[in-house]
Amino acid sequence: MGVVALVPAAGRGERLGYGMPKALVPVDGVPLLVRAVRGLLDSGCVRHVVIAAPASDVDNVNTVTAPLAPADGAVHVVPGGAERSDSVRLALEHALREFPGTSIVLVHDAARAFTPPTVVKAVVDAVAAGHPAVIPVLPVADTVKEVDAGGVVIATPDRSALRVVQTPQGFDAAVLLRAHEAAPGLAATDDAGLVERLGVPVVTVPGHQDAMKITTKFDLAVAEALLAGTGG
Ligand code: CTP
Ligand code: MG
Repeated sequence: MGVVALVPAAGRGERLGYGMPKALVPVDGVPLLVRAVRGLLDSGCVRHVVIAAPASDVDNVNTVTAPLAPADGAVHVVPGGAERSDSVRLALEHALREFPGTSIVLVHDAARAFTPPTVVKAVVDAVAAGHPAVIPVLPVADTVKEVDAGGVVIATPDRSALRVVQTPQGFDAAVLLRAHEAAPGLAATDDAGLVERLGVPVVTVPGHQDAMKITTKFDLAVAEALLAGTGG
């Protein structure tokens, strides 16, 4: 089974405001990206990793991630694009070119650096079991409102039918390529959304609180507290 993980890590981290690309921000001395890649490899079911890095930091990222490559796999770094979806597409094209036997692709945000390897494995297992698109999700704790451009409430969706979506998202490699080719230039924040547009069913598996996306300073403080709690 040839599983390749694509790691979009080319964002600027503007909301975090740390003065460097978010993927390189250290928590207890270890960059978020390194933690994310380790988590993928620790699942035992990812062979190769392709990282989309900020164009200005490709060499830097290579230096910190090359030592993570498993004995029978590789960690490659490519320059990312302007939007997350561009970064994913560039990493996907690289993966299909460099690792031709690839049948399953994961897309995992560098910013979800503390995702437990068990979640990675659950996603891969579900794709391997025949589901072309699989996403980890959590129930929604807050009531969610849909509002118009002026902030006036339009609707209150039934909370019990809503889910918060995490990564890694897992795909049949050919389906993900088709989804990206069918929506050129669409700045999607979520790859499963592109697959939904093809009419391909997307199934869910349980996510995990630790797979939270680190977006703001508050999230970084939560991650630091998490780490202090586990001693990891
Ligand atoms: N990402 C990417 N290429 C981009 C934009 C984002 O690879 N052009 C990646 C980020 O590095 C991150 C993931 O997509 O791992 C999710 O994006 P987000 O959390 O928005 O990160 P940033 O874009 O870095 O943050 P911000 O939007 O606050 O600048
Ligand atoms: Mg962003």
